[in-house]
Amino acid sequence: MSKLYDIIDKLEETQNLEKEEFINLLDNLTESLAQYAYEKARKVAREHFGNRIYIRGLIEISNYCKNDCLYCGIRRSNTNADRYRLNKEDVFSCCHTGYNLGFRTFVLQGGEDPFYSDEFLIELISEIKKNYPDCAITLSLGEKSRDSYQKLFDAGADRYLLRHETADEAHYSKLHPKELTLESRKSCLQSLHDIGYQTGTGFMVGSPWQTNENLAQDILFIKELSPEMVGLGPFIPHHDTPFAGEAQGALDKTLFLLALLRLMKPSLLLPSTTALGTIHPKGRELGILAGANVVMPNLSPVDVRKKYLLYDNKLSSDAEAAEGLNSLKKQMDAIGYEVVTDRGDYAPQLRKGVLLDV
Ligand code: 5AD
Repeated sequence: MSKLYDIIDKLEETQNLEKEEFINLLDNLTESLAQYAYEKARKVAREHFGNRIYIRGLIEISNYCKNDCLYCGIRRSNTNADRYRLNKEDVFSCCHTGYNLGFRTFVLQGGEDPFYSDEFLIELISEIKKNYPDCAITLSLGEKSRDSYQKLFDAGADRYLLRHETADEAHYSKLHPKELTLESRKSCLQSLHDIGYQTGTGFMVGSPWQTNENLAQDILFIKELSPEMVGLGPFIPHHDTPFAGEAQGALDKTLFLLALLRLMKPSLLLPSTTALGTIHPKGRELGILAGANVVMPNLSPVDVRKKYLLYDNKLSSDAEAAEGLNSLKKQMDAIGYEVVTDRGDYAPQLRKGVLLDV
């Protein structure tokens, strides 16, 4: 069994493992192996980021979605979802509040809502950039044409989050309706990367039918794409979806995967996600202690927060909320970390003065 610890050491040293080695780790995960990985991941994150935690203000602009992903609470066919859309003024007002609280990244996230044309988004992005030139804009608005991605980038968007959800074709087709394909998702990610966005991908841990082999495929896909950001959190069932009766993803496995990603790519921007905070009262802190370095508090208008319900019991208040920044700061301080007012851009890794990745 000591061989498992050697595999973690190898990952730390070489930033690479074979698929079988990842599967072996996941198949034989124990509490002590996990602790070993967390400790190393924490150390690596400290070397790269110090004790600094980056924050992003998350603005959920619309819960209308033309897609029908089986896991998601805002899927098209959920007629019980109470739909809303923010207009430009709403978003500006979120940015205003966020800026004064110390946020220097605004994440505009939403369902795939055709209401938001390129023209609308270009105006929105340009206006935010004009008013807050020292801030970064991250978009998380799903699949678009390369041309649209380019236009939004030219308007000033800096980063784009688009989780691949699972890197296995067969698994992908069990989680999504047939109009959505892994191939198209991958091609979007490639376009985003080529255009020059700091690009984020990611996946859910413990989604229905997921195997450890699938997770190894996810990690290797991430290795190949080499994104600047990775979002991962446990799958959590939503009562109005076909997956209502499925089990939620496990805390320890999610944390272990965070640690593996940190060891594989020390410079990765890795959030401790809301989903992690939702399944455990200390989830957010545990994520940081397993190597995460970003937190994304909710900056949406208070009256819409409960409506952006991707999964049941999704947190949106207290330390999960932008105005609860002080409690977040206290939580981070209690475990030895400091929340900073900083754009928190991706910075490639240096080892012994040599640039390792760009
Ligand atoms: N549980 C956990 N995460 C979910 N997401 C959507 N639905 C769920 C769920 N039921 C995640 C997806 C998506 C991101 C915005 O939220 O991975 O990419």
